[in-house]
Parts: sequence; structure tokens; C-alpha cells
Amino acid sequence: MKEVNLNVPLKIVAYEELSDKQKDLVNQSREATFRSYAPYSHFKVGAAIALSNGEVIVGSNQENAAFPSGTCAERSACYYAHARYPEAKFETIAISARGTDDEFVENPAAPCGACRQALLEYETLAGHDVQVILAGKKDIYILPSVKSLLPLAFVEF
Ligand code: THU
Repeated sequence: MKEVNLNVPLKIVAYEELSDKQKDLVNQSREATFRSYAPYSHFKVGAAIALSNGEVIVGSNQENAAFPSGTCAERSACYYAHARYPEAKFETIAISARGTDDEFVENPAAPCGACRQALLEYETLAGHDVQVILAGKKDIYILPSVKSLLPLAFVEF
């Protein structure tokens, strides 16, 4: 028997410690929460993806009366990013969320499993790590890659 521990390397930083580019991405993800359409859950998520061509693509969760037809912010952003700029590589993604009280969440919201799998596809296409920034009201979590959030991911066989 062999036991292996898969660790998630997580840095917790304050907004002031981010680079200007990271701050801009966090700001854009925060702004995107105001364009979320979440009349059912009232949980507003925003995502901003920095691409290798210098563009930033944002997305927000878009809900639907037929609940499963709605889409998370991360997937609305990553699918649009690749549909709009199929040649560009993903560099960094920032994610923010506001709760039912409309305030930014204290503890950063992490992408759901389906979004992790979707984002991993674009990290693989990029051929390098895509940094993930999860922004809470005060604490900001930085992960080095999507893969670090999804150990033992499903990969094409
Ligand atoms: N949501 C996201 O946008 N991203 C996630 O990773 C998890 C959840 C959305 C889906 C739904 O509109 C709302 O948050 C509550 O689950």
C-alpha cells in the first residue's frame, strides 16, 4: 500500500499585495457581479479572464427558470473567451461573488466542480498554468493553477 497526499497550494493575501494587473482583474470580476442575472439564488458571481492577447473577458452567472439551464460565471466567461478569441491562451482568472445581502462574500467563493473541469480544458490548451484568484471581501486566495483545484481530474482517454 502506498499513501499519497495531494496538497492544494494556497496563498492568502490582501488586495493591496496584488500586482496592478491582478488588482484590475479582481476589480473586473467584482464589477461583473453587478451584471449577474440571479433572480432565483440571489448569489451573484463574476469572473474575469486575462488572455495572452491582452484582452480581459468577463462573465457572470446567468440563471434560468428551468434551473439546470442556468450557467455559472466561470463557464459563461471561459466559453465566451474561447469562442471570441480561440487563438488566445488563458493567463489568469479572477472570481468574485456577492451574497444574498448584496455584500461581497467574506470567504472567497471557489468554482464548482463543473467549472473546474471546464477551466482545466483551457489551461491544458494554454500549455501552462493558469493562475486562479478567488477574491473575498478582505482575504484573497491565490492558486497557482486550475489543476491545483482539481487533482485527479478527468482527462481525455
Ligand atoms: N455559481 C457560479 O456562478 N459559479 C460557481 O462556481 C458556483 C455557483 C452560481 C450558480 C448559481 O447561479 C448561483 O451561483 C448559486 O449557486
